[in-house]
Amino acid sequence: MQGEALNFSSFSKPSPGSIRHVWETVSVPLGDKAYDILIGPGLLTEIGKMLRSDPIGESYFIITDSNVEDYVGIDLMALMGNEGLSVDMLSFPAGEASKNMDTVVTLARALLERGADRKSAILALGGGVSGDIAGFLASIYMRGIPFAQIPTTLLAQVDSSVGGKTGVDLPDGKNLLGTFYQPRRVFADIGVLSTLSQSELKNGLAEVVKYGMIRDPGLFQLLEEKWWDIVNLEPMVTAHIVKVSCAIKADVVANDEFEGGLRRILNFGHTVGHAVEAGAGYQIPHGEAVAIGMMVVSRLSVYKALMPEEDLKRLDALLEKLGLPRHVPSNIATEEILNLTRHDKKVQGGRVHFVLSKGIGKTLITDEISNEELARAIEGSRG
Ligand SMILES: NC(=O)c1ccc[n+]([C@@H]2O[C@H](COP(=O)([O-])OP(=O)(O)OC[C@H]3O[C@@H](n4cnc5c(N)ncnc54)[C@H](O)[C@@H]3O)[C@@H](O)[C@H]2O)c1
Repeated sequence: MQGEALNFSSFSKPSPGSIRHVWETVSVPLGDKAYDILIGPGLLTEIGKMLRSDPIGESYFIITDSNVEDYVGIDLMALMGNEGLSVDMLSFPAGEASKNMDTVVTLARALLERGADRKSAILALGGGVSGDIAGFLASIYMRGIPFAQIPTTLLAQVDSSVGGKTGVDLPDGKNLLGTFYQPRRVFADIGVLSTLSQSELKNGLAEVVKYGMIRDPGLFQLLEEKWWDIVNLEPMVTAHIVKVSCAIKADVVANDEFEGGLRRILNFGHTVGHAVEAGAGYQIPHGEAVAIGMMVVSRLSVYKALMPEEDLKRLDALLEKLGLPRHVPSNIATEEILNLTRHDKKVQGGRVHFVLSKGIGKTLITDEISNEELARAIEGSRG
């Protein structure tokens, strides 16, 4: 995957006059749990046909949030109905506040009432919140029924719909209850991204930058060259970056399904990012916090002579072009970020594992970072 050539030749262009329904496939090679991610504009209109020719259940229950229900859900249900499929839809109020056990129980009881059984399948339609809730429910409803992901935010398309992590929050913290449960298929129609807010788009873009930083200098360079097309969601480039991002995540997940080691590299920028997010009382969007986190750990990597300074400058310039922040906010004290970092839920045995950069595309995981070193990188990342 690393350093994939910068061309779009593998993404078949529609011939003049043909329907613009073209898509790419990324396979997630997980043995008997292997599945395909289908990516492309116009895919939504084909999902019914695809599930009719290659079903994952005898009846389908779309689970989505109150926004996506209107944007996409109603149309999808009609399109699936036209294919003669048995389909119903359940929704919950949009937002992270719904990601809890109450919502799961309410949805489970609604499924029962509407006759969902072990031969039914769930379609998780929406952003990461819908995917996490619906995937978790699929993993426990009647001891597990099949599900597919239909991600509608960029973050969900490049990150949360791939890899099989599902779950809900507790009052004590995020994602504290959950399962590893792989979808049977992922359908990522990049056409649906056109209604996303700028802030939601940036949440996804921060993850795409992360993939370039941890694994793929070619993807990073593509972002540098085509950033304008990307922020404007030009279909071919957008489909390409979603495909490359999914391929990187699929490769990492296939080599470490249950997060024993390699999968940790996906946390690049996230440990410090989570601390910044918490320090700001969750008033900073996740993607912006991750962007700041990536700057801090990259600066730390430069201080430790692991990463060329030129690469830090390139990261800084790219984040600026994408409209993502690069500086630690002045109203969050360094001491507070240090404390919050040491209390991240991924801390194991009291030691924080930092994902550092050895230059664009390469990482190094270490638990040997002192408070002084981290504090210097935080201070160095003030505006
Ligand atoms: N399971 C994983 O591996 C994983 C990975 C990363 C993040 N997550 C989780 O994902 C969640 C964040 O995901 P998110 O950022 O997609 O949030 P989200 O699902 O809340 O979606 C963000 C907002 O966008 C709206 N929306 C969705 N699709 C839209 C569209 N096409 N047009 C207009 N509006 C649309 C939603 O209704 C919501 O208001 C968090 O709960 C996080 O913990 C999970």
